[in-house]
Amino acid sequence: MSDEPIISDYKYIFQKDIFRGKVAFVTGGGTGIGFTITEILMRHGCDTIIASRKLDVLKNAAEKLSKATGQRCMPIQMDVRKPEAINRAIDEALGHFEKIDILINNAAGNFLCPAEQLSFNAFKTVMEIDAHGTFNVSKAVFDKYMKNNGGVVINITATLSIRGKFLQTHAGSAKAAIEAMTKHLAVEWGPNGVRMMCVAPGPIADTEGMRRLGGNRITDEFVKAIPFQRLGKREDIANAILYIASPAGELLTGTTVIADGGAWLTDSNNFWAVKNSPVYKQLSKM
Ligand code: NAP
Ligand code: COA
Repeated sequence: MSDEPIISDYKYIFQKDIFRGKVAFVTGGGTGIGFTITEILMRHGCDTIIASRKLDVLKNAAEKLSKATGQRCMPIQMDVRKPEAINRAIDEALGHFEKIDILINNAAGNFLCPAEQLSFNAFKTVMEIDAHGTFNVSKAVFDKYMKNNGGVVINITATLSIRGKFLQTHAGSAKAAIEAMTKHLAVEWGPNGVRMMCVAPGPIADTEGMRRLGGNRITDEFVKAIPFQRLGKREDIANAILYIASPAGELLTGTTVIADGGAWLTDSNNFWAVKNSPVYKQLSKM
């Protein structure tokens, strides 16, 4: 069974059946934030497809999610960098559920690395998973379903590209590309009834992203400097998705909802301190 935590005391804000009869496709839905987004959509009556590279992880997650929510969850192996695999996955999903109303582009790859140490392939890899991956899956779902039926596409970005950041040239560039892409597609696909949105989480506790990027930076002092004085929870991001994807978000398109308790406003972004930190010295030796 999957190690991902199911929420034990979820407090319903919206009607429990707000997504009854809807189908959502979540990339990277087998772990982390994507897992909890999938869980909360399913708690509101949605059937789901979760897609990523590791089929065993997906199968375990799907079983756990279906057991906890009573909704259907279909695991499909797919690399967001491979258009043929994506087309096959979307065909399989549509063959089974006949519709995809909501697409969550959540799959991503990241690590801390100074630009000087980044290989050409490392930069390309993150751009391909995050930016190309978001385009690839969005286009396949649009061509095969949303073009004639409308829908909502929500891309998970980050607050990395609002300001220049140390060690994040690759992911910051990729997330900025996704936010620009979201605006362009909102214009082109608006007449087809497709809404395009981004949700940008800040630091979210109990996630792979935090383990990779937060490291020993997440001290009490770091948390206290966030206006809400807490890290985000996976649930915070999933609830933002719920609002955007629901009829309450009907006029939202082409923009980003930052869900971070104000963290980016006060993040000290002190590159000099990072440059002189043990983390940087370690990364520079690699
Ligand atoms: P995570 O658990 O590692 O989620 C990433 C998911 O993407 C995994 O399920 C992974 O599954 C999938 N994936 C990676 N490469 C893929 C590929 N080539 N094709 C298909 N799927 C792929 O990390 P997370 O922390 O929850 O992050 C989720 C999202 O939130 C990401 O977009 C991230 O940038 C964003 N975010 C996170 C934070 C945070 O604090 N955690 C902050 C800001 C933004 P497989 O390994 O099975 O492929
Ligand atoms: N620092 C610097 N470069 C790194 C790196 C790191 N920590 N990890 C990988 N790379 C480089 C590799 O060396 C390689 O470059 P090279 O061919 O010039 O040596 C390139 O990136 C691709 O690595 P590879 O392992 O072949 O890629 P992959 O496609 O198998 O995996 C990653 C993609 C690297 C992003 C991997 O970390 C991953 O799968 N991440 C998904 C989970 C995740 O990142 N979650 C957090 C989301 S915020």
